Amino acid sequence: MEQFIEKVLISEQEIKQTVERLASQIDNDYKGEKIVLVGLLKGSVVFMSDLMRALKTPCAIDFMVASSYGCGTKSSGTVNITKDLAQPITDCNVIVVEDIIDSGTTLSYVLNYLKLKNPKSLKLCTMLDKPDGRITQVHVDYIGQTVPNEFVVGYGLDYSELYRNLPYVGILKPEIYS
Ligand code: IMP
Ligand code: MG
Repeated sequence: MEQFIEKVLISEQEIKQTVERLASQIDNDYKGEKIVLVGLLKGSVVFMSDLMRALKTPCAIDFMVASSYGCGTKSSGTVNITKDLAQPITDCNVIVVEDIIDSGTTLSYVLNYLKLKNPKSLKLCTMLDKPDGRITQVHVDYIGQTVPNEFVVGYGLDYSELYRNLPYVGILKPEIYS
């Protein structure tokens, strides 16, 4: 698989340190409280499984699927929730867990949707942030690493459903796209 990767952006070791830093930030912020991690499928599963095991704070987990439809690789701004939460989150401390925030369109829709369920608190944690791609502003409470405006894969992130299982984050070779 490695022959398809142009460059490793974030190594396994750096990912591990990043997850530990995020987990201790969250543990500090929620002392004595319970939280609900809401992962957005499918990209967040790898990060979420590492994050939840690094947390000392008691946590429940749930998942959602939000799809944004549009032409090609850019989202249109129309977001559909195709799988909703399995449990109510009213009066819960909710942290939405995402793989990467690019345009911010998906996340701002999901956060507004979750607010309607009246959680006690609602925060956002992303492994990767691509601030140069932002179209819709969204407040991110916990950021793992900032990445340049390039298409990255690995650690849950895919290109055409592949490369999610790479243990690092890398940039695909351009010939893969053409
Ligand atoms: P947005 O913030 O609404 O543009 O959408 C973010 C979603 O697009 C992420 O959850 C990913 O699934 C996907 N995405 C954005 N940038 C990348 C990338 O560089 N590689 C893989 N998936 C990406
Ligand atoms: Mg995603």
